[in-house]
Amino acid sequence: MQPKSAFPSDKSSYIWAITTGLLGSSCCIIQLILNIFSISCAGFSILTPYRPIFLSFTTVLILYTMTKYGLNSKQTLVTLLISLSLSTSPELISLYNQGKITISPFNLEKPLTEEVEIFVVQINGISCEGCANRIKTQFDSKPFVVDSKVYFNNQSAIVSVIPGNYKPVDIETWVKMVDFKYEPKVIQHYIENKY
Ligand SMILES: *[C@@H]1O[C@H](CO)[C@@H](O)[C@H](O)[C@H]1NC(C)=O
Repeated sequence: MQPKSAFPSDKSSYIWAITTGLLGSSCCIIQLILNIFSISCAGFSILTPYRPIFLSFTTVLILYTMTKYGLNSKQTLVTLLISLSLSTSPELISLYNQGKITISPFNLEKPLTEEVEIFVVQINGISCEGCANRIKTQFDSKPFVVDSKVYFNNQSAIVSVIPGNYKPVDIETWVKMVDFKYEPKVIQHYIENKY
């Protein structure tokens, strides 16, 4: 057992690694938590430009924690797990928003149809993946929506619905209901045969 050090700074490397990991992804993780409470897109995206800086701090702090506590210590493991998952959360949420990963294996509860009606929506004002996620949740909560993908990188969304249930204005209204700051516009609208 390693004796407890008298210096409080001994603990701080992993606390800081987690803190910088959190700051670097705040528009994702903190926003996702706010989403649960229906708090609309907060201003965390101002930190996003500094993400590379936070990420390099996180990396340095992880390496420091590793050399300090060794590879097999609990501190190193916990630091690695927490700060890495925080740091990569925007990428993970991005994959989820784009429909490339799903967390629910029970999508079968949505009615299966041969044809889907596709709405391609330009949504100006999405400031991060955490905010994009809230819009996706809104789409997915509608009964005739089969699938939705929200792209933060080009500020757009693709919503697939069971034909004949919604008009472009409905889709735009849903986005407005998430937050009035968004400027949604359906730019394409067509029926697609899934098979
Ligand atoms: C945005 O990007 C995705 C792929 O990353 C693409 O499928 C989609 O069509 C794009 N949206 C617009 C409006 O160009």
